[in-house]
Amino acid sequence: MGERVIVLGGGIIGLSVAYESQKRGYDVTVLEKVACGGQASGAAAGMLAPYSEIEEDPDDFFRLCLKSLKLFPSWQEAVRKESNIDFEYTNSGSLHCVYHEADLLSLQSRQQWQGDFGAEAYILQGDELFTREPELSKDIIAAMYYPEESHVYAPDYVKALEQACRNIGVKIYDHLEQVDVKSWQDEVSLRAKGGQIFHGDRLVVCSGAWALELEETFEVPIPVQPIRGQICAYEVPQGKVNHIIFSSQGYLVPKGNGTLVNGASEDISGFDTSVTEKGIARLTKWNKKILPFLENENPFHKWAGLRPATLDGFPLIGKLSHAPHIIFATGHYRNGILLSPVTGEVVADLLDNKNSDVSIEAFSPERFY
Ligand code: FAD
Ligand code: GLY
Repeated sequence: MGERVIVLGGGIIGLSVAYESQKRGYDVTVLEKVACGGQASGAAAGMLAPYSEIEEDPDDFFRLCLKSLKLFPSWQEAVRKESNIDFEYTNSGSLHCVYHEADLLSLQSRQQWQGDFGAEAYILQGDELFTREPELSKDIIAAMYYPEESHVYAPDYVKALEQACRNIGVKIYDHLEQVDVKSWQDEVSLRAKGGQIFHGDRLVVCSGAWALELEETFEVPIPVQPIRGQICAYEVPQGKVNHIIFSSQGYLVPKGNGTLVNGASEDISGFDTSVTEKGIARLTKWNKKILPFLENENPFHKWAGLRPATLDGFPLIGKLSHAPHIIFATGHYRNGILLSPVTGEVVADLLDNKNSDVSIEAFSPERFY
């Protein structure tokens, strides 16, 4: 039996870390206070869209996202096989739409720097655009088409990954209500609310927006805060919308189950996951300018989740230098679904004391001292 690794948090990041680490021979236990995927991960729109989501300059975060996009096809295939659960993974491509001539310049500059990274990126106008997505508003003057961008149905993907973990031998304890770190300097031990104690050799902190709770324990600043995303879905016949559609006001994602997911707000509201009329209205009022047929439609489902956001927008991925058996993997903010495969790999490399082929220096959990 390999070294005992405890993973704190059963969101998509904790499950990805558990999955890859167990496969590499570690003896992995996941501790989750509610249900696996019951927080941000189950609420996500599921887009795998680094080119659309990162508009500015290339940096280590963009490289990390890109690597994860490339890992996704084989990763999702393995999860599907090992779980015996099917879930939607659609290579729909995406369209980033603009309304003003002046915005063409920013599309061109993105096309250039992203092209240097091998991105397929095409600026479409007129017939080329409207043949591809016929329901788009004719007020849209151009769109960047990224054929590689894809999406998964996040709630099903998390379920499948949880099942894959169980099938390969990961021990998962959920609904523990609260789990506290009892000791960590030598042996790692954690105590659940009911009194159950879990022992390990290493600890991976994947507690999403709740990571700040561990600041005092590990004597390291962990500026992670919850940013609420309110999101909703329309019922739309399959095939009416074909691509992920971005505008400056939000995004629309056509799912294989006949829903069109429309996200998402970015609110500072503590740990409150309620949905407000104002928050949803701010999203939906723009939709007629993107897809005019939505003018008289109302979303049938509304929900919200808490993105784990750090001060600089980069995740925390790395070991604590004063306690290298403690590893952080949290703060994935808007891209945790996309980043799930690469985070699993990078953390397993850290457990193996091996360098990854992506740089993680910029994600040091100690960078906020
Ligand atoms: P979580 O899923 O929040 O998991 C953390 C887990 O830790 C929770 O289950 C929590 O209960 C548990 N936990 C916390 N503290 C403890 C403790 N002490 N003991 C035990 N358990 C604990 N990302 C994309 O890539 N693409 C998207 O399209 C996308 N869309 C999004 C849309 C919305 C509306 C939102 C809210 C997010 C979206 N995201 C998207 C972001 C993505 O959802 C997150 O980055 C990702 O889910 C973070 O995963 P996580 O595992 O770190 O966090
Ligand atoms: N990445 C989409 C969102 O966080 O809303």
